[in-house]
Amino acid sequence: MDTTMSRTETVLSEIKKDHDKARDLFAKIDQAESVNWDDVKELYISLKGHHYAEEEVVFPAVKPFNYQTEELVEKLIDEHEQADETIMDMIDDQDFNQSDFMMIMEIVERHMQQEEGELFRIAREHLGKEQLEAAYEPFKKAEEKGKEEARAELQ
Ligand SMILES: [Fe+2]
Ligand SMILES: [Fe+2]
Repeated sequence: MDTTMSRTETVLSEIKKDHDKARDLFAKIDQAESVNWDDVKELYISLKGHHYAEEEVVFPAVKPFNYQTEELVEKLIDEHEQADETIMDMIDDQDFNQSDFMMIMEIVERHMQQEEGELFRIAREHLGKEQLEAAYEPFKKAEEKGKEEARAELQ
């Protein structure tokens, strides 16, 4: 890989990449004629890993700036929990509920748009490029840890 490219990787470009992968997976599951539980499990694992990394690495850096950033982070964490729990319940019960799935897909889409808009703006404004680059590796590590935990939960 071009080293110039990897130097410009930031935690924000990584988040955007994860979001686009989640969008593809949501669409794949939504459009399937019958439920493929491997895809649903993969969605759960990738969401959990992504959420864990955001909550470990990005949110603590953004939250303390002011009252609004605090409120924003709390709302985003609530949405993580709602999405994770709803998908986990379906897997647990082996019962795919199309309308619950649609609801979660919409919530997660709005959530990702808010992160890519408002959260990214705040992060760029307060943290600067160097700090965003430095957060890339810790984010990837935390994400792997979150995914491992999710895989263990599904055993
Ligand atoms: Fe998030
Ligand atoms: Fe996100």
